[in-house]
Amino acid sequence: MGTVTKPFLWGASTAPHQIEGNNVNSDWWAREGLMPGMERSGDAIDSYHRYEEDMRLLAEAGLNAYRFGIEWARIEPVPGHLSRAELAHYRRMIDTAVRFGLTPVVTLHHFTSPRWFAEEGGWLGDRAVERFSSYVTAATRILDGVPWIATMNEPNMLAMMVTAERDARLRPDGAWQSPTVDNQPRPILPTPDPEVGARLVEAHHAAREVLRERTDAAVGWTVANRAFVARPGAEETLHELEHIWEDLYLEAARGDGFIGVQSYSSQWVSREGIEPHPPHPDNTLVGTAYRPDSLGIAVRHTWEVTGGVPVLVTENGIATADDERRIAYTSEALGHLFAAADDGIDVRGYLHWSALDNYEWGHWEPTFGLIAVDRETFERRPKPSLAWLGDVARRGRP
Ligand code: FCB
Repeated sequence: MGTVTKPFLWGASTAPHQIEGNNVNSDWWAREGLMPGMERSGDAIDSYHRYEEDMRLLAEAGLNAYRFGIEWARIEPVPGHLSRAELAHYRRMIDTAVRFGLTPVVTLHHFTSPRWFAEEGGWLGDRAVERFSSYVTAATRILDGVPWIATMNEPNMLAMMVTAERDARLRPDGAWQSPTVDNQPRPILPTPDPEVGARLVEAHHAAREVLRERTDAAVGWTVANRAFVARPGAEETLHELEHIWEDLYLEAARGDGFIGVQSYSSQWVSREGIEPHPPHPDNTLVGTAYRPDSLGIAVRHTWEVTGGVPVLVTENGIATADDERRIAYTSEALGHLFAAADDGIDVRGYLHWSALDNYEWGHWEPTFGLIAVDRETFERRPKPSLAWLGDVARRGRP
């Protein structure tokens, strides 16, 4: 396991399917065509060709890290057939980040899988873990010098999606239940099946083994933290729900090089279960409550359950059309993060979600970016929040 030392990482995050465009061999691309009510990713924001400009904007603003993903469906379009050109593409991205002074934080799987993998049974298929390990082994050809590698993004949300699809609990009216959009009157997200979770844990551990043998990186995964808080008398329900939604995945991170914390909002738990976000004018564009304090709750809970695995905030942000609101939210969230660090939690960095407005899993309306993008011309327009976060990074504290 590699050791990662200072400086504190200040950066922004993205995921390949949300920004690259034309990820035509992936299971998500196929799903987009099938689900009424779901917008297509299409060209996304064409970051596949424009990544250099994207990274330059982050570096020029004062950030020193960029989290991005590599896309399995591009690297292995057919089982066992590797695209050397795509591997070279991602190697160029890594080199470009380094050239700009951005520490690359690379995610190997961010919700999307090759279409053939889905057709083989996806994460529940007999060969799932073997298939994933073999892709991860191939990826290590280009990961030299990458100090932070996440095997998988939000396995808990992925388990929720796999469970929903398995149970065909997609909404009868055909509207897709996005992993992140939870606004009323949409239903609250279905509960991830712990057996699906166990399969993902197995995949993470297998990938971790490969990466430890073949790289010097700190290896971890990133877990969506729902920052549940119990109503009086609901402590037992809270623990059950925490286990199903988060702790299964956080316990699996014990012994990892880092744990990625991803936090956006917080939710009450009553004896009946998770309370939907109450309608409120402050709610975000994905329907969640405005809760910048969730990051502190998430980091403290993660530290406790993992037993002290170093924390890297790999996602935190807000879906809003009002950039001043983004700055206010982030400023407050950082206050909670540094309070946790001052209490002795080993926090290694803060990566904001997201670098750019992008394709939010079926929806284009929720904008999380520090940079706006004209979807006709692909022109990038940095928002004031980018310069603001860059200044915070230069100062080193909020
Ligand atoms: C997380 C996902 C990320 C993005 C944000 C808003 O659950 O990892 O891709 O959708 O939420």
